[in-house]
Amino acid sequence: MTISFAGRVAIVTGAGGGLGRAYALELARRGARVVVNDLGGARDGSGSSDAAERVAEEIRHAGGEAMADGGSVTDYAQMEALAARAREAFGGIHILINNAGILRDKSFGKMSMADFEQVVRVHLMGSANCARAVWNTMREQNYGRILMTTSGSGLGGNFGQANYGAAKLGVVGLAKALYVEGARHDIRVNSIAPLAGTRMSEDMLPGEVFARFDPAKVVPGALFLVSDAAPTNAIMGAGAGHFQALQVTVTPGVLLADDEQTVEGVAAAWDRIADRTGDIVMQSAIDQVTQAMKLIGRD
Ligand code: NAI
Repeated sequence: MTISFAGRVAIVTGAGGGLGRAYALELARRGARVVVNDLGGARDGSGSSDAAERVAEEIRHAGGEAMADGGSVTDYAQMEALAARAREAFGGIHILINNAGILRDKSFGKMSMADFEQVVRVHLMGSANCARAVWNTMREQNYGRILMTTSGSGLGGNFGQANYGAAKLGVVGLAKALYVEGARHDIRVNSIAPLAGTRMSEDMLPGEVFARFDPAKVVPGALFLVSDAAPTNAIMGAGAGHFQALQVTVTPGVLLADDEQTVEGVAAAWDRIADRTGDIVMQSAIDQVTQAMKLIGRD
């Protein structure tokens, strides 16, 4: 079965280079009309360029349909204007890939709060701005696919990336709320944690590894997550041809006797509280209550 994007309109943010460009090229090759958004700045977000126009031109040159947008995802009005242009030119919006991002790494004690805030603004507020700008169109169409870009840094923690990690777990929280709200309208919302050799990761990946982590190798995972066949509420890790699922789980936990419900009682029971035997993957907030009620309700 070939997965086609014919008839679909896709917005890819930060698509002037790296992973976003790779997504945009393949979406267009498979028939989507693509809005290539990129501010075209440096890795830390400073400056701007015509990166989006160059990728849109690359798509058109290969026979595809594309429009460039140089707006910043941090500016809601600009993202609303982008969505309006996409609807006018292409007649709808079916896919949004929130991919734009910047890095301003520093150990937490040395990080300025301005750098913390700007990273959160681009990744988290940028993803929320774009999702909000397309949301009601997707609801009215009863069809939508939204992909957030998270990171092992947000899901697992990484030195020097408090700002980035906070933003990257934030977008997963956004994805989870939107998947619940969008379910009735066939809006499916997923997250991808890529591993790719781009300017963003060039300091972290040694030369020979960098080459193996070609951004093109992430494309099959990302495009599956925005296809008709997409799951929803998934978090996929993807890099170098390897794909994995990351999950938020909740353990069965322990119901302590009345006289054990003390700080000392919790300390003594911690290993049993954290024991993963019988844990479940959370599908919504209610699962925490459900797990608890299995034991609380037993009395
Ligand atoms: P990249 O730096 O090549 O791509 C990011 C793009 O976003 C750039 O083209 C940049 O101009 C654009 N951008 C930045 N601020 C913007 C704004 N305000 N408005 C519009 N566009 C803006 O880096 P890469 O690696 O392709 O990153 C893509 C996404 O993947 C990012 O969200 C990044 O955090 C994420 N990621 C990448 C990993 C990797 O191994 N390369 C690992 C985990 C996550």
